Amino acid sequence: MAPRRIDPTKLPAGSALGARLRALAALPKVRLHHDGDEVTAVQGEPLAMSLLAAGKLTLARSVKYHRPRGPTCLRGDCDGCLVRVGGVPNVMACTTRAEAGLDVVSQNSFPSAGLDVLRVTDWFFPKHLDHHHLFVHVGGAVNRTMQHFARRMAGLGTLPDDESALPPPERATCDVLVVGAGTAGVACANALARDGLRVLLVDEREGPGGLRCDDPFAGVASPVPVAGVEVRYGASAVAAYEGETLVLDAAGLLSVGARARVFATGCREGVGTFVQNDVPGVFTARAACRALCAGVLVGTKVVVLGDGRFARGFAAGAAEAGAKVLHVPAGVAVEAAGGRAVRGVVLRDGAATRTERCDALVIDGVPAAVYELAGQAGVAVTWSAERDGFAPGCDDDGAAGNGCYVTGSLRLGRVADDVRAADGERVAARVRRDLAEGAR
Ligand code: FES
Repeated sequence: MAPRRIDPTKLPAGSALGARLRALAALPKVRLHHDGDEVTAVQGEPLAMSLLAAGKLTLARSVKYHRPRGPTCLRGDCDGCLVRVGGVPNVMACTTRAEAGLDVVSQNSFPSAGLDVLRVTDWFFPKHLDHHHLFVHVGGAVNRTMQHFARRMAGLGTLPDDESALPPPERATCDVLVVGAGTAGVACANALARDGLRVLLVDEREGPGGLRCDDPFAGVASPVPVAGVEVRYGASAVAAYEGETLVLDAAGLLSVGARARVFATGCREGVGTFVQNDVPGVFTARAACRALCAGVLVGTKVVVLGDGRFARGFAAGAAEAGAKVLHVPAGVAVEAAGGRAVRGVVLRDGAATRTERCDALVIDGVPAAVYELAGQAGVAVTWSAERDGFAPGCDDDGAAGNGCYVTGSLRLGRVADDVRAADGERVAARVRRDLAEGAR
């Protein structure tokens, strides 16, 4: 079975997920096209959700071996959803809104991502294809022909239909730029605005809440910015350099100069390393929850691995929506089975091995800090054994040097909502103190 749209009327009475989905059901529907097929979508939802709901799981192909790719993260962190939209290549379907009339085409495949005959590359070279050196020893025309052929077979899309150039950025200034409108970012921005500072809060999502928005059972009490905070949603902070931060949204580019910058960019989730971890149908638990919250069930028989917030949330929500769920604890080793999509999973717990049939594998892995922007701004990033990944360095108040501060999950890892809120306020107090001292 493929992913499908959830019918909210079939959810149990009093279900928090049902209340969410009934509100979504009132939104207008639009029609768009994917590889020539008509798809009905909820206007404004992530395009990847529309395609999943239409049962389209394989959206892309890997660059070289043409292995099938499907959405894994649903938040712009993997390459599983790259498509051509309206003549623009390499568009992430998970961060693009569904609109009427969109023409969505799979790329780097023949004839389509769903059935790509170029997959033979993977079957002929199961161990590795070093196309750089394949015919080097022969040289001459044979080698040149091979290089030409390899370049045609591989790659990511072709050039856009139209040339377009972004206009130069507008300029804006503020006292404090806060990047990330999750629990900590909003708490920090609110505390600073209440002190009379000019605060600009940006977030790539369409509203505040961060990870709480992806938790089907988080409730509706996400903190919201107070009136004094200038907010830009749907705005990605894409670069930080020489004291400026470049923000991109639908209106264009904005170069923001700030006396202090607070990074509350949170964590990203991965699925970990295991055999066949790239088969469509493998999702992070947060992605599967995000899909649930958008009214899409990623599978009908799902193995959920892990004990975290999103594994628990998905297992509960998917069961309410009618999926068969097998929830196994973290630490059990897995291996996905299936060619074009997940068809089962091998579970190894100590000496015991068993195989379960399923159509989706949902994994709640160790969240990794989204440190890149803070690193660009000059924050030292070092390996953290405790977090099993790279993380920004800072003192106990989140101060990281160069007028930069880090807060929330970015600095603490996945901690409770109230801990992140308290951290945002603590970092705000430090920013306030440092700015006051700098102004003296
Ligand atoms: S980047 Fe879109 S699903 Fe991962």
